[in-house]
Amino acid sequence: MDAESVQHLISLKDWPDAEIRAVLDLAVRVKRERHLYAGSLAGRTLVMLFQKTSTRTRVSFEAAMTELGGHAIYLDWESTNFKLSRMDYETAYLSRNAAILMARMRLHEDLLELKKGASVPLINGCCNRYHPCQAMADMLTIHEHRGETKGARLTYIGVHNNVVNSLLAACAAFEVHLTLVCPIAPPESIDAELKQKLQNLGLLSETLDARSAVKSADYVYTDTWIDMEFFDDPSYAALKEERIALMSPYQLNEQLLESSPAFVLHDMPIHPGFEIDAELVYSPRSLIFQQAENRLDAQKAIILNLLRTQWQ
Ligand code: CP
Repeated sequence: MDAESVQHLISLKDWPDAEIRAVLDLAVRVKRERHLYAGSLAGRTLVMLFQKTSTRTRVSFEAAMTELGGHAIYLDWESTNFKLSRMDYETAYLSRNAAILMARMRLHEDLLELKKGASVPLINGCCNRYHPCQAMADMLTIHEHRGETKGARLTYIGVHNNVVNSLLAACAAFEVHLTLVCPIAPPESIDAELKQKLQNLGLLSETLDARSAVKSADYVYTDTWIDMEFFDDPSYAALKEERIALMSPYQLNEQLLESSPAFVLHDMPIHPGFEIDAELVYSPRSLIFQQAENRLDAQKAIILNLLRTQWQ
């Protein structure tokens, strides 16, 4: 297949809502009946390229390929030749050996450079703009928990980041009402088009009153206040201190949730004592580990959808 006509998953906004919903249905089936899909990608290889650190994305993609009967190759940016050449040449080569690619890149623009050479599907494993695989796992978790996504009320408290942009797209596709409590929302981080879409559907609220935002929420979601990679980086110390000062009143904790029935979501890695109090992580309210587990089946469904002509 030529690079122009292949389907990728760069952002959920590139996919029709009906296809996003069909992939969630597939994820539900794949999780319930794992044995039916075992071996469906025998002989197929996923190449995973990481410019940034990861626990869940690496493990869940690799486990997904193992369970589907295929194989995953891990490439660390620093030990490859991507830096020495044009990125599209390197992905053009990878496409000659692999059935599917996944990349975690710092910059969305670099992901688009990778895409130019990819003649097999390329999955965004998280860039500075989007985290589509995470949003699919989040919706799978809500679906499992309440039996359907439609009508769920989700409140996100934190910095407006890549996770929020993908939640905007997912909430539109699954008719989830999203309330944003984002005291820090850098304009360059916001996908205004996705925000407008959810607004037009009547599914978006914004407030800085965290207490009122959690009161009627079914789920409350938070994420790191600074990019996880820079959390302990001395050159980000000043930004970190600034954000801690601004965001501390918005920490997710039992006190904030005292009059709320909400269950707690976090995409991990967790920074206890910052965006979330440690007592919530293992509390009965927490769906965090189920949410992280769901990366596996959500991504199996994404891979199977992108390679559907090869396994159906
Ligand atoms: N949520 C998430 O993407 O986790 P990792 O950064 O560990 O892959």
